[in-house]
Amino acid sequence: MSGTLPPVVRTVASLRAEVAAWRREGLRVGLVPTMGALHHGHLSLVNAIAEKADRIVVSIFVNPTQFGPTEDLDKYPRQEEADRKALSTTPASLVFAPTVAEMYPNGFASTVSVKGISDAFEGALRPGHFDGVATVVSKLLLQCLPDVAIFGEKDFQQLAVIRRFVADLDMPVEIMGGTLIREPDGLAASSRNAYLDPAKRTIAGRFNVILKQLVQAVEAGAPLRDAEKRAADALMAAGFEAVDYVSVVDPASLELLDTHDRAARVLAVARLGGVRLLDNMAIAAP
Ligand code: PAJ
Repeated sequence: MSGTLPPVVRTVASLRAEVAAWRREGLRVGLVPTMGALHHGHLSLVNAIAEKADRIVVSIFVNPTQFGPTEDLDKYPRQEEADRKALSTTPASLVFAPTVAEMYPNGFASTVSVKGISDAFEGALRPGHFDGVATVVSKLLLQCLPDVAIFGEKDFQQLAVIRRFVADLDMPVEIMGGTLIREPDGLAASSRNAYLDPAKRTIAGRFNVILKQLVQAVEAGAPLRDAEKRAADALMAAGFEAVDYVSVVDPASLELLDTHDRAARVLAVARLGGVRLLDNMAIAAP
């Protein structure tokens, strides 16, 4: 399919008809959920899932229920034609781009809510966010019924939340994690990076450097709270406006670790120019 624009369907019925036709041919189906404004991080997910799927659906849906009342739902970039063009360079087979009314018809009243793993970090700072994510991803999985779906490690907590409800609700789909893709200066690729002016964009590149220093310090035996505090101070000194958290956690439960006694993950969010930049990095076992 490479080179041609992938076709678009906008209804669940037409998505299901396409998937059913593939199923009759015995093909394996993969799903890549996105909110569009596709960059090379998203495209890497399409390429990675191609190893496990013969046909790939990329969903593009800016999901209103995962945005808070003061967040960027209205200004979130919407560029479907550019997205289809970007997908024409990948093995994507089909774009599923439903309307809000198709996803949330009048009378819609149900929520998928995941306790524990969604409580801290993004869940604490964005109330309702993970309910919105879990609900829309459940719907997308049930609409498409793929064999496999992929989510980026960029949103590390989101991936953990999705793994949790997929297991809890016995959804018959394999969840793959996709490697975090970075810009040349190390900044995690994100649709929201486009909101940064050039000066702020330069500062943003420090985020990766400072997290790498934290990882090295922890791997060299630094106490975790000291290493977190030093990273937060370094972010403020670099020109970030606020640090929401820099926390070393267990990579499966996301519980804060007291000592570096296993493989871990540092999760971090810092704010710059009104943008919340998310990043995370693996920390090796001692
Ligand atoms: P969105 O932010 O568009 O991201 C879509 C997918 O791309 C997510 O799985 C995300 O983790 C992944 N992704 C984004 N930037 C990445 C990067 N730099 N490297 C690797 N993967 C990256 O996340 C969402 O949309 C939504 O919450 C969604 C799951 C679609 C539900 O609405």
